[in-house]
Amino acid sequence: MTSLSLYQLLLVLCAALTHALNFCPLMGPSWPAATGLANDPTVKAALQSIRTTLQTAITAGNFSGDSLSLQIFDTGCSDPLLSLSYTATDINTTIGVNKVDENTVFRIGSTSKLFTMLMLLIEDGFGSLNDPVSKYIPEIEAVVVDMQRNSTKSNNGIDFVKWNEVTVGELASHLAGIPRDYGMLDLTEEVPMLEGLGFPKLVSAQVPPCGVPNVCSRKQFFNGLLQGHPIFPTSTTPIYSNAAFQVMGYVVEALAGENFQTVLEKRIINPLKLTHTFYTTPNIKLGVIPSAQGEHFWNFAMGDETPAGGIYSSANDMAIVGRALLNSSLLPAATTRRWMRPLTHTSSLGYAVGAPWEIISFGNERPIDLYTKSGDIGTYSSVLALDPDHGVGFTVLGAGAKTHESLALAADLISASLLPALEAAAKNQTNCHFAGTYALSSLNSSITIITDAGPGLVVSSWVNNGTNMFNSYMALSGITDPSQLSIRLYPTGLESPGQLSFRAVIPPPLGTGIGPFTSPCISWVTVDGSVYGNMGTDEFLFKVDNIGNAVSISPRVLRTSYPKTS
Ligand SMILES: *[C@@H]1O[C@H](CO)[C@@H](O)[C@H](O)[C@H]1NC(C)=O
Ligand SMILES: *[C@@H]1O[C@H](CO)[C@@H](O)[C@H](O)[C@H]1NC(C)=O
Ligand SMILES: *[C@@H]1O[C@H](CO)[C@@H](O)[C@H](O)[C@H]1NC(C)=O
Ligand SMILES: *[C@@H]1O[C@H](CO)[C@@H](O)[C@H](O)[C@H]1NC(C)=O
Ligand SMILES: *[C@@H]1O[C@H](CO)[C@@H](O)[C@H](O)[C@H]1NC(C)=O
Ligand SMILES: *[C@@H]1O[C@H](CO)[C@@H](O)[C@H](O)[C@H]1NC(C)=O
Ligand SMILES: *[C@@H]1O[C@H](CO)[C@@H](O)[C@H](O)[C@H]1NC(C)=O
Repeated sequence: MTSLSLYQLLLVLCAALTHALNFCPLMGPSWPAATGLANDPTVKAALQSIRTTLQTAITAGNFSGDSLSLQIFDTGCSDPLLSLSYTATDINTTIGVNKVDENTVFRIGSTSKLFTMLMLLIEDGFGSLNDPVSKYIPEIEAVVVDMQRNSTKSNNGIDFVKWNEVTVGELASHLAGIPRDYGMLDLTEEVPMLEGLGFPKLVSAQVPPCGVPNVCSRKQFFNGLLQGHPIFPTSTTPIYSNAAFQVMGYVVEALAGENFQTVLEKRIINPLKLTHTFYTTPNIKLGVIPSAQGEHFWNFAMGDETPAGGIYSSANDMAIVGRALLNSSLLPAATTRRWMRPLTHTSSLGYAVGAPWEIISFGNERPIDLYTKSGDIGTYSSVLALDPDHGVGFTVLGAGAKTHESLALAADLISASLLPALEAAAKNQTNCHFAGTYALSSLNSSITIITDAGPGLVVSSWVNNGTNMFNSYMALSGITDPSQLSIRLYPTGLESPGQLSFRAVIPPPLGTGIGPFTSPCISWVTVDGSVYGNMGTDEFLFKVDNIGNAVSISPRVLRTSYPKTS
């Protein structure tokens, strides 16, 4: 694969989007995920191209000379698909590492929130998410009781957060509408400058007594947070909140009956054998320390706000965490599936929010969602991005002057090559495993399966016991023009040993529509829409051998199966 210019990429994406509109696939993978990625020619070429692109960008100064450590990983293998580190010239090698590698420790900032949510799910699954947070936090319960008794407060919707309405799940998904921070980052840290800028002088009672450098105690934090104004009513619009994750940290402690650090170690660090992940500031010799301000941001303590942004980790450890999330090794698979879903849109259609996933959609032949979390803390930044459809993820950790911008660029460059390659590899492998003819010659029954330019496995011909089933499905779908009939099979993810389930999308003739209501892309509504004797006319099952090659197909509504003959 050659590396694409941004302009070429745009053309490819536009062409791809047009495709997606024509075929209207189901949301989710078009083909079973490719395996053996490290040896797949398409993926290998993409990884090589990513390495070259990143190295070129480093040389060209696109990363502002920031130190980076990144890994691309998959669930099939514990070795990374790609591991690349870059050591900036401007680091303090007297106190930190000389050379950045996959074990170098960075601060991960807000990516810490993912650890906090994972801990909550390990402790209690989804049990607490619909509960009011007051159930777990006595300070909040006291405010709720006070508000019930005080009509001046309960009638004032602008000055007082309705804490009785705030659930744990809303805190987890930035939907609580509560303040972003308390103490930390308050501009009173910069008092002389603010007064010079025309802001009034504050009396001391108005200045938070804590933040930086003195972290807020639990008491100070709640005193301040519970006086903060609401930003929006609950579940109105996502408003990013670090304070919400400090409260989440206390919820985890209440559920576990142990302090956050102990739970982190017991539930994540020890089971995954993470050797370079820390709750408290580790030995500075393990870290990369940018000369300018690096030491300050390395040492800067977050106290009880650590669950929102204080954790330290390495690219190697973050890849292990990413793999554990993708392969659901710390949670039941059903919990992971429920967790990896959007909970709210943002005003950008390609960017949704989960708990606390930042879900970024890439247009390919279909939208591919990356479940990501990013973080920044001073001179340090991090991103973890997971692609559950392909069982692949990547992490980038950075340190330096413009590390947020550097990581965003690296993540875009990686995604632009990696995602199309993973789709191509999945399609190619699926074609090898499933395409061909399946037949019962004694009955004049056969199905031919191919892949083409569009998504899914395509049924290109189908005769059952002498009846051309294309004619039958046209009759059922009300299609009269044979060129309008398309039967595309998508993997459902349901499987038994040696068996994989697929569903067909058999779209009615696709018009264009004059608006969203008349849009023809409603495949999801049509699935299982036609059943015969309680069996969907769109249900297909493949039997596969132990290396994944199909040995038979069953269009299940026909209560028959045809062996693969070529
Ligand atoms: C497609 O898969 C086949 C069989 O695994 C392999 O030989 C071929 O190189 C692949 N083609 C591409 C473009 O990856
Ligand atoms: C890198 O920087 C060069 C020079 O400023 C610019 O021309 C190029 O487009 C940048 N590349 C990327 C990938 O941003
Ligand atoms: C009710 O709340 C208001 C606003 O905070 C406060 O001024 C008032 O003293 C409170 N009343 C009682 C009875 O606590
Ligand atoms: C490295 O850090 C030490 C300790 O703070 C400091 O004395 C020294 O000047 C720093 N060196 C560089 C190159 O920043
Ligand atoms: C899942 O990933 C974790 C972390 O890399 C690994 O320890 C574990 O063995 C994997 N489990 C499975 C079932 O693949
Ligand atoms: C195949 O079609 C023939 C003729 O219509 C019919 O008699 C026979 O029962 C059919 N066989 C099966 C297995 O459906
Ligand atoms: C099998 O059935 C198809 C569809 O009805 C028909 O076109 C074809 O001639 C038949 N083949 C044989 C060998 O009977």
